[in-house]
Amino acid sequence: MGSNSESNGSAGIKIPKIQFTKLFINGQFVDSISGKTFETKDPRNEEVITVVAEGDKDDIDSAVKAARTALDSGAWPRMSGYERGRIMMKYADLIEEHAEELAILDTIDGGKVFSICKNIDIPHTVHLLRYYAGAADKIHGETLKLLGEFQGYTLKEPLGVIGHIIPWNFPSTLFFVKVSPALAAGCTMIVKPAEQTPLSALYYAHLAKQAGIPDGVLNVVTGFGSTAGAALCSHMDVDKVSFTGSTEVGRLVMEAAAKSNLKHVSLELGGKTPLIIFDDADLDMAVNLSQNAAFFNKGEICVAGSRVYVQEGIYDAFVEKSVEMAKSRVVGDPFNSEVHQGPQIDKKQFEKVLKYIEYGKNEGATLLTGGKTCGDKGYFIEPTIFADVNENMKIGKDEIFGPVLSLMKFKTIEEAIEKANATRYGLAAGIITNNLNIAHRVSRSVQAGTIWINCFFVFDPSCPFGGYKMSGFGKDQGLDAIEKYLNVKSIITPIYSSPWL
Ligand code: NAI
Ligand code: MG
Repeated sequence: MGSNSESNGSAGIKIPKIQFTKLFINGQFVDSISGKTFETKDPRNEEVITVVAEGDKDDIDSAVKAARTALDSGAWPRMSGYERGRIMMKYADLIEEHAEELAILDTIDGGKVFSICKNIDIPHTVHLLRYYAGAADKIHGETLKLLGEFQGYTLKEPLGVIGHIIPWNFPSTLFFVKVSPALAAGCTMIVKPAEQTPLSALYYAHLAKQAGIPDGVLNVVTGFGSTAGAALCSHMDVDKVSFTGSTEVGRLVMEAAAKSNLKHVSLELGGKTPLIIFDDADLDMAVNLSQNAAFFNKGEICVAGSRVYVQEGIYDAFVEKSVEMAKSRVVGDPFNSEVHQGPQIDKKQFEKVLKYIEYGKNEGATLLTGGKTCGDKGYFIEPTIFADVNENMKIGKDEIFGPVLSLMKFKTIEEAIEKANATRYGLAAGIITNNLNIAHRVSRSVQAGTIWINCFFVFDPSCPFGGYKMSGFGKDQGLDAIEKYLNVKSIITPIYSSPWL
């Protein structure tokens, strides 16, 4: 596979020539100032797909300058919300037109299942843009009657230059989770995609220009976290960093913000999501949902339902069916329509997951199925289930970010709630029951930002998403996410006595 010609993927899908590999700054694709590049690899076979410009501090400086100029004197923050919305709608149409090619890029770069990219990730991406496009002309302040002879009004102004730092597990969706509300708010921005998955981000930069987003409004700087990412976080002229990734790096982002210009920060970090299944659940539905919860996107999802609590009455039957189903999941080339699970993103994550499987065995959990790698190249791991796990074991407490499910038995509702909350994370939780009283009680008692009852992974642009506890703060999605990208200004003026007050 190379960057200069089309090549055959698999399952008859042609991998198009990679068109965009340079930084996108001020509306132009440019080399990095240092001239450096880095390799992006295909996790199916560990081969290099292409090399991409490696942005660093100087490139971040140049992108921030472009974004600052576009903010201070450009058209984007000054045009009406209606006009911004129309351009965003056009942007969404262009993405829809190129859905297949974009899905291919995320599949080769990230090892994601192609049909899911094409039918779920990219449509969700388009939906996000259209949702916030429709909101762009509905941003307004309030008029206020103040004490004494004063009146006031509030203006909602773009917050400024935004740095978006995103991870590799949902390269398309997360790009637009961040960018769409910020565009609607009239901000200008720099996106630093994950070094593992730079390709679709650069394609989105190209489409932004085609859609008519003015130069300097949306810049994309590819590169590494400790260089380009860190430079964005400590930049004195960046007003906010919106970050999704690991808890450790989230801490660094806050530290850098504190030590530089006290920029705003919002963090969407890891999770250790519990899924609680009660005795009255339909067994097949529950097993199915739990496997999807734990293994979807190879377990590389911040809300993976990696802790599955099953009530004692159905526990044994649940274990049996779960093992059977996990064994039937097909691991392999994500272009193949029969395949449920592709490779882990890279060597580092592959080794991390395998290390956790070893911890599980050594800490006394029972390995029911899986636990091994598959194939002789690429980063494939079998769907893995452990039983007899507790919340003090590493596999019960840390985010593994791989296809590893821990099964645990419980007796009472109180016990389930206590165990579900025995974590430093609080991103999401799932409940399976037909008993409304249980569903309501557990939903209110579990400390997490999203609760799914009899479903899992239901995302919608209108539904706020974000964490409690160490899973972060500042919601993505939902109408309120626009507020993260706005400043509120109060304007006060005297109003002299009027008979009509
Ligand atoms: P990471 O947190 O290092 O990477 C996420 C993004 O942050 C990437 O764009 C990266 O370049 C950037 N970054 C890294 N260091 C930075 C720094 N010092 N300053 C600014 N930006 C920086 O995550 P990584 O190492 O790729 O994965 C490690 C673990 O993090 C995973 O095993 C998983 O547990 C968790 N994770 C959680 C995600 C989520 O959706 N909440 C997504 C990806 C990883
Ligand atoms: Mg890659």
